[in-house]
Amino acid sequence: MRRDLHIKVILLAFAFALMISCSPKTHYKTLSFFFDGVPNPYKADSIARADSIRMAGSKETKTIRVVKSEYIFHPPYQEKECANCHNQGQMGKLLEPLPGLCYQCHESFGDQYQVLHGPVDAGFCTQCHNPHMSKNKFLLIRTGQNLCLNCHLSKDVFKNEAHSDIEDADCTECHNPHGGEDRFILN
Ligand code: HEC
Ligand code: HEC
Ligand code: HEC
Ligand code: HEC
Ligand code: HEC
Repeated sequence: MRRDLHIKVILLAFAFALMISCSPKTHYKTLSFFFDGVPNPYKADSIARADSIRMAGSKETKTIRVVKSEYIFHPPYQEKECANCHNQGQMGKLLEPLPGLCYQCHESFGDQYQVLHGPVDAGFCTQCHNPHMSKNKFLLIRTGQNLCLNCHLSKDVFKNEAHSDIEDADCTECHNPHGGEDRFILN
């Protein structure tokens, strides 16, 4: 009886030691074994880059390692709160369809605007946003006019007089991407 307990305590301590000795690399491996899409901290383009800086008051140039990510992470993804959006048993399956999933944390655009932009109304948030991370601000999957011209044909858009001299201005300089007062969803 006592001996049993003893062995249990030793096993527990051993398991604990294993856990804390887990290097970030094995941690990444373990995580990515269970979930695809966990950012690889060892991918050259995603993080770590050596930068040279000159220290104040010194003639030497020092090379230090700066951990810099080119990605902007969605906070719940970064905090590995995958279960806020996914079924833990079946990663990849969503807890709730969009846009309801997003509106658990973000104010519903339906409450903010008179008229909703087509894809917002239909819950196609991921046609413009990556739910995990992006190199672009606001987690956008495309930048500038490309974001909009992926769905709206440029020949139709530029036929409209309102667009005759916009050149390469962002469409969002005039239009709100989510909704507005009338069907033209102007800012
Ligand atoms: C804010 C909600 C949210 C969080 C938090 C989140 N996901 Fe997702 N995830 C999504 C949505 C939405 C999709 C579907 C994307 C689409 O429509 O293409 C998705 C898709 C996926 C897929 C399917 C393949 C792919 O990349 O499209 C995997 C795997 C996945 N997520 C893993 C994870 C893991 C692992 C975490 C935690 C580190 C996580 N997700 C956190 C919303 C989330
Ligand atoms: C579990 C809570 C949670 C859920 C669910 C969630 N978000 Fe977020 N989201 C946050 C937090 C926290 C922030 C950072 C604070 C803020 O901007 O409100 C954020 C920020 C954002 C931003 C702005 C990022 C930036 O760079 O400023 C976008 C875009 C976004 N979320 C889109 C979505 C979309 C699309 C969904 C649904 C697929 C979603 N969110 C679901 C919590 C959540
Ligand atoms: C047509 C593209 C597009 C669609 C679809 C879209 N967004 Fe956005 N979203 C943007 C752009 C562009 C921004 C950058 C802010 C701006 O220009 O107003 C943004 C910003 C955001 C932000 C941060 C700033 C803010 O306004 O709160 C959140 C959160 C967000 N979107 C959530 C969502 C959710 C949730 C959905 C789906 C219901 C969605 N978006 C659908 C283009 C889109
Ligand atoms: C995922 C595809 C998609 C993307 C990306 C998209 N739109 Fe739309 N947009 C639609 C749909 C669908 C409608 C509704 C079409 C309709 O009612 O005729 C719409 C309607 C509109 C309308 C109103 C048109 C009308 O005649 O009432 C405007 C304005 C608009 N979008 C601007 C934009 C802008 C600006 C962007 C980029 C920020 C953008 N759209 C990105 C799909 C998209
Ligand atoms: C200088 C401001 C401005 C910019 C920039 C702008 N728009 Fe518009 N857009 C307008 C106005 C104003 C209307 C309403 C026109 C009307 O009353 O017929 C409009 C109408 C629209 C419509 C509905 C009418 C139609 O032509 O089908 C769509 C779709 C649209 N814009 C998409 C876009 C896209 C995509 C971009 C970026 C490539 C963009 N707009 C950039 C001001 C702008």
